[in-house]
Amino acid sequence: MSEQTEQAEQMNVFEPHEWRHKTIVAGTEWKNLVGTASGTFQLDACGDYYDVSQMGAICTKGVSPVPWEGNPSPRTAESPSGMVNAVGLQNPGVDHYLIDELPRLKKLGAMVITNVAGHSDEDYTQVVEKLADSEADMLEINVSCPNVSHGGMSVGTDPVVLSRLIKHLRTLTDKPMIVKLSPNVTDIVQIAHAAVDAGADALSLINTLVGMRIDINTGKPIIANRTGGVSGPAIFPIALSFVWRVRQAIPDIPIIGIGGIDSGEKALEYLYAGANAVEVGAAALFDPTAPMRVARELDDLLDSRPELAAKLAKGQTW
Ligand SMILES: Cc1cc2nc3c(=O)[nH]c(=O)nc-3n(C[C@H](O)[C@H](O)[C@H](O)COP(=O)(O)O)c2cc1C
Repeated sequence: MSEQTEQAEQMNVFEPHEWRHKTIVAGTEWKNLVGTASGTFQLDACGDYYDVSQMGAICTKGVSPVPWEGNPSPRTAESPSGMVNAVGLQNPGVDHYLIDELPRLKKLGAMVITNVAGHSDEDYTQVVEKLADSEADMLEINVSCPNVSHGGMSVGTDPVVLSRLIKHLRTLTDKPMIVKLSPNVTDIVQIAHAAVDAGADALSLINTLVGMRIDINTGKPIIANRTGGVSGPAIFPIALSFVWRVRQAIPDIPIIGIGGIDSGEKALEYLYAGANAVEVGAAALFDPTAPMRVARELDDLLDSRPELAAKLAKGQTW
């Protein structure tokens, strides 16, 4: 047992648990059906509350070719049943990620989804090239961030631009490639088809919805970026409908459902909507144990749904 694993076990607030239900997403086997959502997991903070190697997958914060400072503060605001954020993809860059965070996660034994961020095709290219021979288990291409001025969401809202980028990235890596879709589009099904036809192995949806809060004392936006991305329970029914619509249109593509999940019951709704796995985001910022708690609740709920559990364990869609 590694030193870190031993440490995690000592601090783990959960009783030991034997996973009974797994899933397969684009050829990768998850020990349970729940991962952490990008930007809401930090090894140094979350490792104090649960053994991160016991999550289905750990999805990292977006990784860019060089360090990015993100947006000016204030970068978050509360909103009814959730939050608005405009962190703006702050991260220490791919070189730092490769020598620091990724080895630490792999040493613990976690399955790692590396979230890839970019302002341009060149940015995405540089990051994917550097990750192609890394220990990352899957890449998640974030073409959907509403808080960056170039790239990000604009790539994810134009099927032609998206298709060109994903076709190009497909030539750079054999790793399973997830494309993370934006809800800020007119027709999610058209965008999903463009990603899959261009070579995506799986889709994750959704990223945050554009929103804002205003300070009524000043009459000005609370967030320095003015607008940000809304996440948390408020977006749950919206995100669920996106997963359902894409599943109806594309029966075979693995889907990771994201948005407003804070309980095993909500995660289960995603599975019935057509997801093969889920990720827990903002809930972890309010309660750091949320991803592990949701994973355990879902494991229990699947005991009484053997038909659904068996399909997902084989990597089949519902
Ligand atoms: C503070 C914060 C930072 C985020 N950073 C990223 C990111 O770097 N890359 C990304 O693809 N999504 C990012 N997201 C979006 C989440 O991964 C997720 O898609 C979204 O919050 C919806 O899920 P939730 O309602 O469970 O939070 C971020 C979300 C939050 C709240």
